[in-house]
Amino acid sequence: MNIHDRPEIPYENLQEILENAFNGLKTFNILKSSVEMGVFDNLTNLTTPEELSRKLDIEPIFSYYILEALFKIGLIEKEKGAYNNSRLSKLYLNSNSKFNRGNCILSLNESVDLWNNLTDTLKGNLSKKEESFFPFIIQVMAEDCICGELQDTSSIISSYEDFNNSKTLLDLAGGHGIYSIAFSKINPKLECFVFDLPSVIKETKKYIEKYNANVKTLSGNFYRDDFAGPYDIIFSSYNPGGKNPEIAEKVYNALNFNGLFINKQCFPENENQTLEDVLDNLEWNFAKFEKSMKAETRYSFKGDLTFNGYLDFLENLGFDIVDVHAICHLNPSFGSKSRNKLIIAKKVR
Ligand SMILES: C[S@@+](CC[C@H](N)C(=O)[O-])C[C@H]1O[C@@H](n2cnc3c(N)ncnc32)[C@H](O)[C@@H]1O
Repeated sequence: MNIHDRPEIPYENLQEILENAFNGLKTFNILKSSVEMGVFDNLTNLTTPEELSRKLDIEPIFSYYILEALFKIGLIEKEKGAYNNSRLSKLYLNSNSKFNRGNCILSLNESVDLWNNLTDTLKGNLSKKEESFFPFIIQVMAEDCICGELQDTSSIISSYEDFNNSKTLLDLAGGHGIYSIAFSKINPKLECFVFDLPSVIKETKKYIEKYNANVKTLSGNFYRDDFAGPYDIIFSSYNPGGKNPEIAEKVYNALNFNGLFINKQCFPENENQTLEDVLDNLEWNFAKFEKSMKAETRYSFKGDLTFNGYLDFLENLGFDIVDVHAICHLNPSFGSKSRNKLIIAKKVR
């Protein structure tokens, strides 16, 4: 090899990819540690790096660089060498805010571990446990949904005359129960029931108590158990059975005539268009979750129908498709946005 030869392609082409990726990792960790250590809780007033270092019990040099990094990311403000929260961090990163999203950030840590040990993960050393996943993730989903998705969803649904005239609602796989809690506050005459796995219902009850809501719970497995009823509305959001024909048939049977089936779902289509799509689909396969019947594409489960296939199936069952609304929101387990559909169907036959 002649030491004077230059490579045919400049190494900067590779370096740029690496640098962006590594800076993303560092930025994520600064954000995560800042939430963990309570940095944003300590920046309600202008604070110097020295003051912060005493409060957090870290070296002043570290508090200085953490603050400078958060300032350059755009999360905090700076005035004469002291720092305080921006409006964004005050709203979403202070643990006393009702819109605090700290858990949405900290919960990504489990996935970060799998990504950091990707070789082990690809060889099948997975740490995600199916039993503990849902009771954990619904708490993150609760924190996420009250920052916009709940309000978007409930304002669409409450605009339907049928919602206001209904007496009973089943929130199938309702998890935290926040949707039912909101529905019962909009229409106090509506008797709402949250159906979910017994381990999750324990958590649901805590949210019902927190919001002092008149919402009831039903424990069960929607693949095996009866939904009771009949109901005037069956609502379902990101239910793993929400694209499954057998569950749709159970919904049909548990609805009153003229009842509404309102189903918010992500139907995978045109997958793997972007790098983000590919990363999410890879991550979806890190956890197998046999009992939930996970399939190989994100948000999909064995036996799922496509969007058009599902609508046809509902129509053949005896539903009219009243409307389909687009709702794009964060999927908290991936930390990325998903393109969802809110289907409003009416049992007419
Ligand atoms: C992605 S979470 C959605 C929670 C909530 N509906 C929302 O949109 O934020 C899926 C929910 O389905 C529930 N679930 C999963 N499999 C179930 C089953 N076989 N029977 C009943 N509930 C189930 C989980 O416990 C969890 O609460």
